Amino acid sequence: MSRGLILAIESSCDETAAAVVERGSHTLSSVVASQIATHARYGGVVPELASREHLRAIVPVVRAALAQASVTLADLDAIAVTSGPGLAGALLVGITYAKALAFAAALPLIAVNHLEGHIHAVLLNERETAPPASSDPDEPALALVVSGGHTHLYLARPTSGAWHYSLVGRTLDDAAGEAYDKVAKLLGLGYPGGPWIDALALHGNPRAVPFAFSQIKTKLHLAGKAPRTKAAKTAPIADLDPHFLFSFSGIKTAVLRYVELHNLRPEAESRRETLFTGPEAPAKPTVEDALATCDPQTLDLIASFQHAVIGDLMKKTFAAAEALGAKRILITGGVAANRELRSRFIAEGIARSVFISFPTLALSTDNAAMIAAAAWPRFLAREFAGPDLSANPSLALGR
Ligand code: KG4
Ligand code: ZN
Repeated sequence: MSRGLILAIESSCDETAAAVVERGSHTLSSVVASQIATHARYGGVVPELASREHLRAIVPVVRAALAQASVTLADLDAIAVTSGPGLAGALLVGITYAKALAFAAALPLIAVNHLEGHIHAVLLNERETAPPASSDPDEPALALVVSGGHTHLYLARPTSGAWHYSLVGRTLDDAAGEAYDKVAKLLGLGYPGGPWIDALALHGNPRAVPFAFSQIKTKLHLAGKAPRTKAAKTAPIADLDPHFLFSFSGIKTAVLRYVELHNLRPEAESRRETLFTGPEAPAKPTVEDALATCDPQTLDLIASFQHAVIGDLMKKTFAAAEALGAKRILITGGVAANRELRSRFIAEGIARSVFISFPTLALSTDNAAMIAAAAWPRFLAREFAGPDLSANPSLALGR
């Protein structure tokens, strides 16, 4: 009898991941090989290096996922793979290998949208632990996908097992995670910047620097004057309510101005030298190492930046939930690992009687278990990909 086992492969950005999940609800294995060490010295993901690292890692990662699940290819029911959005060369490594495995083992192939995967990370987590106590899982949920590449709001509706998504809002320029990474870089902190800012923000005053987000004007985006960015290509904006649109490039510039005005740049450069590039730099700098190199003004700046970004995410997400009558908000993607984000969303959810769910920290950042979970309803509906499946770097989710 079929066990409903799906092997999923994820290679859209800088993690090579494979997982075996039973019936979209029980993770037998989830292996993630991170390329952080490769990209860290460049302060961001270098696409060519990402493809090369995926090529190196894909076979051992898939083998490890099968071994840890104690299964062989013969035990599987399908192979799932991320087909977009993401880096073209990186996606192609996973897709090509998934196709070869599916062909060799005569298994169906399922193409999964990476963003849908992030949403299913929360659902998988709920199925594996306890279902939400105070919310009906069949009710529509508002999903905030907040990562290095995306800041998107979707209304997710389950209808007889399948999920449907409508785009409600998104960023016009930088993703929230991108802003974290760029601000960390200009402050001389490591890559990725999110975890450094998360940890250091605890030591600063979040109200020291009053960063403000201006209201996005309808006319600006309808006139097509919004910056042409990666994010702008992955989803149209003309039909969206401007109250649910985000923009994070301004706060990055505001932080830069603050650094220049207060002459914090020399301090940032010496911090980078002490922690990451200099001859005395520790092999693996810790938060304590970083803390020792930050003066109170820098810590206040970090705490204020984070406070402002999270405040803006909350304001627009809760406004969208209210406007759409959603009683449940799922928050997922790398930035959903952030401690202040989690505690403030939960507190506001309690105040407004809106149920807030997060994935575990391991399921927040890129992984393949979420891809297998998103593939399960497609497996049941026999929605299989053909041998011509190709990478779609700007694949959109919903309409
Ligand atoms: O989902 P993810 O692993 O990859 C993408 O699909 O982009 O997200 C990575 C992003 C990076 O920008 C990283 O700085 C951010 O998530 N991130 C965080 C935290 N952990 C990772 N941002 C804020 N706080 C964190 N604790
Ligand atoms: Zn992601």
